[in-house]
Amino acid sequence: MPLVSMRQLLDEAAKGGYGVGAFNVNNMEQIQSIMEAARETQSPVIIQASRGARAYSQDRFLYHLMLAATELYPEIPTVLHLDHGNSPETCQSAIDMGFTSVMMDGSLMPDGKTPSSFEYNVEATRKVVEAAHAKGVTVEGEIGCLGGIEDGHGAGGDGLSHLTDPDQAVEFVKATGVDALAIAIGTSHGAYKFTSKPTGETLKMETLIAIHKRLPTTHLVMHGSSSVPKELQDIINQFGGKLKPTWGVPVEEIQLGIRNGVRKINVDTDNRLAITGAIRKVFMEKPEEFDPRSYMKPAREAMKKVVAQRMTQFGQAGHAKDYAPIPLTEMVKRYQSETVAV
Ligand code: G3H
Ligand code: 13P
Ligand code: ZN
Repeated sequence: MPLVSMRQLLDEAAKGGYGVGAFNVNNMEQIQSIMEAARETQSPVIIQASRGARAYSQDRFLYHLMLAATELYPEIPTVLHLDHGNSPETCQSAIDMGFTSVMMDGSLMPDGKTPSSFEYNVEATRKVVEAAHAKGVTVEGEIGCLGGIEDGHGAGGDGLSHLTDPDQAVEFVKATGVDALAIAIGTSHGAYKFTSKPTGETLKMETLIAIHKRLPTTHLVMHGSSSVPKELQDIINQFGGKLKPTWGVPVEEIQLGIRNGVRKINVDTDNRLAITGAIRKVFMEKPEEFDPRSYMKPAREAMKKVVAQRMTQFGQAGHAKDYAPIPLTEMVKRYQSETVAV
């Protein structure tokens, strides 16, 4: 089946009361890991690419790999989503290439670092909604800023500096018409999110619940949602890595979020850890090896295992065949006639 809109997946997830993992990719092996995990667990999938990923893969390689994924896994509803678009122009280039969903992260200025004003965020996001919906493409916006910096993207600091204000979230959704809303509740991108297991002081699930109460039909998105499992940290360190002790977002907290309107959960770091651990293991245990397949195969398998586990934990497993894909042309008509509620 062709790539589908993220709006359809999230609407279905809301009906079924489950969440959908959105996994970052940069190359063929990561796409293969996700698609294999989706087939094994019978899950719909969101595959996302950051600006860095698009630059790394020269865009077209990534796009054609995604077309290969839809050919080889025709039974899996698959979304191609732009992660953290930094400007309307970046979002437009993704729409033009065939992404079926884009994130306009107007919580930061186009430099991807400086927190923006509410007015700027509304203006930039509204512009993207207009252009995207005219093509049936889904839009995710963000209000509040995450902590940390990944590949030059992020407001820095801890996750508590720019939390989402629930009233502003309501105003933002109304003013922009976004399909999904990313919120800041104390998480950060990358491996170093919390210095101990998070509590209500550091991971503000109460804020999430307050936002959901005010916006009960808005699909909420949790960024920075890797759990950074100790087992994955240990494998890296056992085979020569130097990760400092760190804590991620416990899966139970994500599940609490899913019971309170979270429909999209962004995970990148856990997969990076799994891949790195598997490669380090081969390098240490078989120093005579030099065929990239000797370490890329276990790396691909390690990522598949993490993704399949998350798909089961988020509840999307078993839902791949629940619904027929809606073509983007039909999504355009629905946006025009406002039968897609915003
Ligand atoms: O938003 C952060 C994701 O982990 C993507 O990271 O910008 O290094 O590709 P990246
Ligand atoms: P992690 O760094 O926690 O995996 O978050 C990824 C993310 O939010 C991508 O947008
Ligand atoms: Zn993110």
